[in-house]
Amino acid sequence: MEFIKWSKAVELNIPILDKQHKKMVNLTNQLHKELELNKKTQIKKTLKLIVDELKNHFETEENLIDESKLPNFISHKLEHQRFYNKVSGLYQNIKAGKSNLTVDDLKSVKVWFFNHLDFKDKKLAEHILSKK
Ligand SMILES: [Fe+2]
Ligand SMILES: [Fe+2]
Repeated sequence: MEFIKWSKAVELNIPILDKQHKKMVNLTNQLHKELELNKKTQIKKTLKLIVDELKNHFETEENLIDESKLPNFISHKLEHQRFYNKVSGLYQNIKAGKSNLTVDDLKSVKVWFFNHLDFKDKKLAEHILSKK
């Protein structure tokens, strides 16, 4: 059973964003599998990939936010910033050997991801598509 199941229902019809969201889901599923198998070295590597991909994805989205002049964009960017700090903090702690990643960490990533997608990214997509 996959940890996060991708479905058409969460697609935004903005190809670059759908592609990046899907990549994030795949990486998180991969990390979940590695966590179950306790593959410590691999866990560190995948988490680093997630941190890098998050940075890349948030940059893409924030460019779209600016270009499309999305109203009320501050809370959207703030959520990105907080989440990025959280995930990169997890990575730094694991890298420094201060803590281990837990399934609860991944569960909170999952909850954040879908909340953000539903409440923020969806609004951005609707705004962009309404201008076309
Ligand atoms: Fe976003
Ligand atoms: Fe997003």
